[in-house]
Amino acid sequence: MAPKIAIVYYSMYGHIRQLAEAEKKGIEKAGGTVDMFQIAETLPESALKALGAPGQSSDVPVLSGSAGSKTLESYDAWLLGIPTRYGNFPAQWKAFWDHTGGQWKNGLYHGKIAGLFISTGTLGGGQESTAIAAMSTLAHHGIIYVPFGYAKAATQMMNLNEVHGGSPWGAGTFAGADGTRQPSPLELEIAEAQGAYFYSVAAKHFG
Ligand SMILES: Cc1cc2nc3c(=O)[nH]c(=O)nc-3n(C[C@H](O)[C@H](O)[C@H](O)COP(=O)(O)O)c2cc1C
Repeated sequence: MAPKIAIVYYSMYGHIRQLAEAEKKGIEKAGGTVDMFQIAETLPESALKALGAPGQSSDVPVLSGSAGSKTLESYDAWLLGIPTRYGNFPAQWKAFWDHTGGQWKNGLYHGKIAGLFISTGTLGGGQESTAIAAMSTLAHHGIIYVPFGYAKAATQMMNLNEVHGGSPWGAGTFAGADGTRQPSPLELEIAEAQGAYFYSVAAKHFG
């Protein structure tokens, strides 16, 4: 049986969304299917306005509250998209996890697999620390983390001719300090390769 895969992300300005689309493309090219979800917004309209955020898109279902955490119970494997906040995951993601006490207590996420992809404003802004910070949550649930490593996109990962996000922890992009930089073709290629690799691991584990 094919593994049931979900891409779950929060994206305030669309950078993580673009990586999510590339991850999806990679999964589909590798022969899989995937459902996309967004984590619910927690900031009030006034804060979003102050941050210049356009608000969530309406074309991807939003996981909110206990119903949202329940939705993920039926997926074997998740790719999680995280835009950094102070080198850590954002409150929107934390609010999602804070609804998962029931799943934790009953082991309903235990044994699932998860990969990560990350967006930061700048180099050194948290591509790696954000992934490391997520480990504690995954460990508490017993979710098996699937690192991307280097082997599946070694040339792209080790390219020092241009600035690019992505690390062995997962694909990544730099949004720039003012958010105007968009994911580069190289970063999208890495995300696509991660999607394909993640699918192969999921298929081996759950197929
Ligand atoms: C409150 C706040 C804190 C942030 N903290 C960091 C940070 O610690 N390091 C960094 O590189 N970027 C930081 N950023 C920039 C975001 O990571 C960036 O806007 C995000 O990666 C863009 O992805 P998105 O368009 O998918 O939301 C911060 C942004 C906000 C609004």
